Amino acid sequence: MSRNILITGGAGFIGSHVVRHFLRNRPDYTILNLDLLTYAGNLENLKDVENQANYFFEKGDIGDAQKVKEILEKYQIDGIIHLAAESHVDRSISDPLVFVRTNLLGTANLLQCVKAYWKNDFKGKRFYHISTDEVYGSLEMDGSLFTEKTPYDPRSPYSASKAGSDHLVRAFYHTYGMPCVISNCSNNYGPNHFPEKLIPLIIHNILQQKPLPVYGAGANVRDWLYVTDHARAIELIFHEGVDGETYNIGGHNEITNLQLVEKICDLMDVKLRRPQGTNKALITFVKDRAGHDLRYAIDASKIETELGWRPEYTLDQGLELTIDWYLQNENWLQHVTSGAYQSYYETQYKTD
Ligand code: NAD
Ligand code: TYD
Repeated sequence: MSRNILITGGAGFIGSHVVRHFLRNRPDYTILNLDLLTYAGNLENLKDVENQANYFFEKGDIGDAQKVKEILEKYQIDGIIHLAAESHVDRSISDPLVFVRTNLLGTANLLQCVKAYWKNDFKGKRFYHISTDEVYGSLEMDGSLFTEKTPYDPRSPYSASKAGSDHLVRAFYHTYGMPCVISNCSNNYGPNHFPEKLIPLIIHNILQQKPLPVYGAGANVRDWLYVTDHARAIELIFHEGVDGETYNIGGHNEITNLQLVEKICDLMDVKLRRPQGTNKALITFVKDRAGHDLRYAIDASKIETELGWRPEYTLDQGLELTIDWYLQNENWLQHVTSGAYQSYYETQYKTD
């Protein structure tokens, strides 16, 4: 089984939790984090584990064949957990091509380099692609759920690029027999979440007493999963998942955006000792997102019954933990909003 693992996108939100999870639970593994450090990459996310002897960081692009080849050989990689991606739907609407370049072409390059490096000797090897439930499209408000058999119907440039990368991974499995597995997860939240996404943006704006932008009427539904529950699922699928299979991951935590924002407002009124209703008064309804998917919801019964995974945290528990983390780590938030986090690599890692 794999021991030298390449985690791509390990400086991002979910990737950093996956890196930490593996370093804590698999001390006998070598973990190599390959990350381009785009605006979303933040090595401060990994400050607590960066000095561990079995952890290595390489700055590089998954689309750079030379770089990928070099590190596959240098670290003798036998397992890949691929998270590197452009991940924000709103950015994909204003700049779709970078999503095609990273998510589609980058994944294709990674697959091609890995196939060449493994030279068809796939024993004990695994390529694991971390994907999203957004590839399945949008659900009506009718209680239906995405299963692994739901046909792909991506609607944003982000989800289209992720759907394309899922198809490429499956194509490498079917065509070349490369051992691949995919999981499609619902919306994550938790510590280290970049404050362009809904939950950390709302927390940040409440702290700053700024308007809380809610798209449209706030009636869209998302199914939220606490990020460490996702990291646990990833470790499980990496080890126990079946090649060629897909696993949906979700927390059974459906809520409308407005209800979610109101919940955060109420919790933070208490934590910040503000009179009840202070934060809710900041809610501002703004122009809706173009092509805004109405509802996502996951049927996670396959991973539950076949692999025995269950989320540990309810939405209320996860939100408490998340808000507490942001309150205790205002420095992290301040570095992200000021841009200071982007010089961490130069000061801590760069030797030339
Ligand atoms: P993120 O935007 O926080 O992190 C992405 C990371 O990838 C960053 O560190 C960035 O620097 C790196 N990266 C970007 N382009 C790169 C490139 N060309 N080469 C190397 N590294 C590059 O994203 P996230 O929210 O942590 O999501 C991680 C993965 O999980 C993505 O593949 C995403 O599609 C998937 N996913 C996310 C969610 C979610 O709710 N955030 C849900 C399901 C699946
Ligand atoms: P987001 O966190 O961007 O995740 P995704 O688009 O991948 O689901 O958005 C979550 C939901 O919140 C989505 O329905 C869009 C909405 N939203 C707002 O209402 N206001 C905001 O400022 C943002 C960023 C998102």
